[in-house]
Amino acid sequence: MSRTLSKDCIRPNTTPPQASPRGGVHIKRELLFIPGPVTVSAPVLESLRRPLIDHRGPAFAQLIERITHQLRPLFGTSGAIAILGSSGTGGMEAALVSLFSPGDRLLACPVGLFGLRFAEIARAYGCDVEILETEFGNALDPNRLAERLRADRKRQIDGILLTHNETSTGVQNDLAALSRGVADHGAMTLVDSVSGLGASDVRMDEWGFDAVVAASQKVLAAPPGVAMVALSDRAVDRLETSEVPSFYFNLRKALDFGALGQTPWTPPVSTLFAVETALDRYAAEGASNVWQRLASYAAAIRAGAQALGLDLFSRANAHSNTVVAVNIHSGIDFGAVLRTLREEYGMTLSGGQEHLRGKIFRIGTMGDLAQTDVIALLSAVEAVLTEAGMSVKKGSAAKAALEVFLRLEEPPIRGDARRTDGRRAAQTMAMPT
Ligand SMILES: Cc1ncc(COP(=O)(O)O)c(C=O)c1O
Repeated sequence: MSRTLSKDCIRPNTTPPQASPRGGVHIKRELLFIPGPVTVSAPVLESLRRPLIDHRGPAFAQLIERITHQLRPLFGTSGAIAILGSSGTGGMEAALVSLFSPGDRLLACPVGLFGLRFAEIARAYGCDVEILETEFGNALDPNRLAERLRADRKRQIDGILLTHNETSTGVQNDLAALSRGVADHGAMTLVDSVSGLGASDVRMDEWGFDAVVAASQKVLAAPPGVAMVALSDRAVDRLETSEVPSFYFNLRKALDFGALGQTPWTPPVSTLFAVETALDRYAAEGASNVWQRLASYAAAIRAGAQALGLDLFSRANAHSNTVVAVNIHSGIDFGAVLRTLREEYGMTLSGGQEHLRGKIFRIGTMGDLAQTDVIALLSAVEAVLTEAGMSVKKGSAAKAALEVFLRLEEPPIRGDARRTDGRRAAQTMAMPT
């Protein structure tokens, strides 16, 4: 934590210095604090430069096999994983069209705009979608879901649509708790984990989910362009019976070609090189360390925002590890604040989407970011808000974040199991306000 905080010098040293167009050495890099695509590390970017290989040849088959092998523990599955050349939405669409038929009754459980998108795709393919509503900012209440499913005594609900991490509201659902109600009912359950997979423990097989969708540009910190859809055995069986006509997003074809070490259509080979490097880096850091890193960044950003007098949009016990949603303070032109952060500090944050535009702004924690980047971001936000006329205590945001980092890095307290079990520590840290 020794680097000086200023617009130009807070950078993790993962990017080698480059010759500046104006001469001399240029070490500044732009930092993406948006919730995906994210700041990608130099080794992952470097892998994009590798010469292309034949996507129907043995080297590609080995690449797909290595990627699939590395993905299994992230999904918590020993089952099939389809690799698609698409963004996350393509993965969601592929899962829906491959597993359901027109007229199937689906219970969608959105906690934000991406959950609504899942429902919208299902409707576009003729499914009969019921929405179990949750006020934005909250997580889905496992008891409400279990109650609605219990009420379906005739088992008319064919499918359940869940979101793991809702990027539009900075909310994370408790998938383990939700899985209990789902398991009792038995409907085919699809989970959008596009911005969640890799950020916390997912145990798809144990929790009985049938399809879990992820994408390359979020926690894995690779470029966009690859979606992954993990499927349960019964989902694989179901692929034979879907009556929705599909061609490109057809998981049966994806799995058939996958068995040959191929994809049905020309894949984004370079992005897959980057995905493999990103997965190697993920494995080297260790899953529980990644969870802990993301949870600590999110907790530090929340503490920093609150120290500036800003309120969080997500409710306590619903906070995401990968994106922090902050309410916009009335009287401040946040459009101008975000513009100044981007243009003068090289730090890009996101605004709210759709009806949350102008109401919240969002800060992503994913990608190749250091603690010093988080501290620098909060210092920059503080400086820009001060310039914009908000009265804030100087240094308060950085101090609050630093305190979170120091607290979370304290050595284990004897007898405190929370600190000796990385998995549980990460889950515990995911939630504090
Ligand atoms: C939770 C969630 N679901 C789905 C998507 C859609 O993914 P993509 O933009 O890769 O299509 C996103 C993207 O931000 C997301 O965060």
